[in-house]
Amino acid sequence: MSKNRRANLSVPQEDPYFYISKDLADIFEHIHALSKKKPVNVLISGRQGCGKSSLVRQYAAIYQQPLSTFQVGILSEPGQLFGEYALEGGETKYKQFLFPEAIQTPNSVIHLEEINRPEHPKALNMLFSLLSDSREVWLEELGQLNVAEGVVFFATLNEGEDFIGTELLDVALRDRFYFLLMDYLPNVVEKEVLIKKTGISAEQADDVMAALNFLRGHGDLGIDVSTRTALMIGDMIAVGASLRQALSVSLQTSQETLESVLVGLHFNKGYTENVSAEYVLFDNNFIQSTKRA
Ligand SMILES: Nc1ncnc2c1ncn2[C@@H]1O[C@H](COP(=O)(O)OP(=O)(O)OP(=O)(O)O)[C@@H](O)[C@H]1O
Ligand SMILES: [Mg+2]
Repeated sequence: MSKNRRANLSVPQEDPYFYISKDLADIFEHIHALSKKKPVNVLISGRQGCGKSSLVRQYAAIYQQPLSTFQVGILSEPGQLFGEYALEGGETKYKQFLFPEAIQTPNSVIHLEEINRPEHPKALNMLFSLLSDSREVWLEELGQLNVAEGVVFFATLNEGEDFIGTELLDVALRDRFYFLLMDYLPNVVEKEVLIKKTGISAEQADDVMAALNFLRGHGDLGIDVSTRTALMIGDMIAVGASLRQALSVSLQTSQETLESVLVGLHFNKGYTENVSAEYVLFDNNFIQSTKRA
C-alpha cells in the first residue's frame, strides 16, 4: 500500500463551524447507531453547494471514521471504480484502485458523488450488489470482495429545479438507501457561518445576506446562490473587496444582471457604490500603493 493511498483513507478534520438542524443531527446519530448493527446506505439530495459533501465529511470527522470519496459522475463502465489494466514494462497488468481497499476497511465512510450522473448507466451495476444486504461483489480480476464491518455508504446527488434528483436514479438502486433532503441554511445560521468562516463583521454579513436574499427572491434572474457562493463573497470582502466587487466576481452573471441586482439592493437598502471609471498602471507601484492604503 502506497503512502498516498493511506492518506486518502484518513479521518478528515472536523469543521468547527458546521451547522445542521437538530432534527438532522439526531437522524445522523440514529444512522450511526444503526451502522454498527446493519449495513447502512444514505442518499443525500440537495441543491448545488448546499453542503452535501461537507456533511459527509463532517460525519466521518465526528465519528472518527476514515473517509474516501469517489466521483461516480465520471464513470463510463462498471469495473472502473475498482481498477484498470495498464501497461507496465511491456506487460499489461491489472492495477487496483482505492475503492476495493476502501470498502474492505472497517468502519470507513464511502462517499459516492453524483450518483445520478454516471456517463454510462451500466457503470452502476457493480454497486448494486455492494449496496445490498449481502454487501459483496465478484470481479474477475479481484475475486470476491466483501464490504467490511461498519462501512457506511453515502451517495450524493444534485437536486434540480423541479426534481429532487432521485427520479434519475434506477429504482432498484434508489431502494437501497435512506433518503435525506438538504436545503440551504436559514438566514440567521448562514449569517453566523459567514461571520465565523470568513471573518467579516456582522454589518458586512448583513449586507451580504441582503444581497443573497434579493437574488434568491428573484428566481427570474437565474442566479442560484449557494452557501458556497455566499462564502466566496464573504472571503472577498474579508480581504477588502467592496460588496459590488465581491458579487461581481462570485456570481458569474452578466454586467447587466449585476447592475439590476445592485439597483434592487440600492432600492431596498440604500446601498450606493459606483464602479470607478479610472484606469491605472497595474505594476509594482500599484501593489505598493494598495499596501500603504
Ligand atoms: N451547514 C453548513 N455549515 C457550515 N458550512 C457549510 C454548510 N453547508 C455548506 N457549507 C460550506 O459551503 C461550501 C460548499 O459545501 P459543499 O461543497 O459541501 O456543498 P455540496 O452540496 O457538496 O456542493 P455540490 O453540489 O457542488 O457538490 C463548503 O465550503 C462548506 O464548508
Ligand atoms: Mg459536493
